[in-house]
Amino acid sequence: MLRAIYPGSFDPVTYGHLDIINRTSKIVDELVIGVLMNKAKMPLFSVEERVKMLKEVTGSIPNIRIVPFDGLLIEFARKMEATIVVRGLRAITDFEYELQMAQTNHKLDREVETMFLTTSLKYSYLSSTIVKEVAAFGGDITQFVPEAVIDRIKEKMS
Ligand code: PNS
Repeated sequence: MLRAIYPGSFDPVTYGHLDIINRTSKIVDELVIGVLMNKAKMPLFSVEERVKMLKEVTGSIPNIRIVPFDGLLIEFARKMEATIVVRGLRAITDFEYELQMAQTNHKLDREVETMFLTTSLKYSYLSSTIVKEVAAFGGDITQFVPEAVIDRIKEKMS
């Protein structure tokens, strides 16, 4: 059984995340989406809201689970009995941080490998932060996030 973790803040989930989720779910037997609880990051959405939105927008994918986590990613991977961590790479600007994270995690546990998927070109500019910024100024975010998320962002911003 090949189980992978796709960790992130998902504040909120975007089409870029969904692209990675869809493609990874076709490669592994089970994909666990790990939703970081960390309040220090001051998320717009609570972890419960982020999990709910992820469940709504991934409902049609059979081999995924959505699980909140706190603390070290590597501990979470062990708990889930996952041997792969998946991350999306959008551009060269992501590389330094992602490399540092992957190498630190590999130092902490050599049994867990990080695998990178390059984000599809059409989402290479997209991030949750950008979506929140556009929404905060009343911009159109329909190209960036699924419908279920648009309503939630509007509620938060109003
Ligand atoms: O979506 P994000 O915010 O880029 O995801 C970052 C995440 C959740 C992958 C990262 O912050 C993380 O793994 N946090 C858990 C704490 C941890 O294990 N840190 C050490 C890794 S260097």
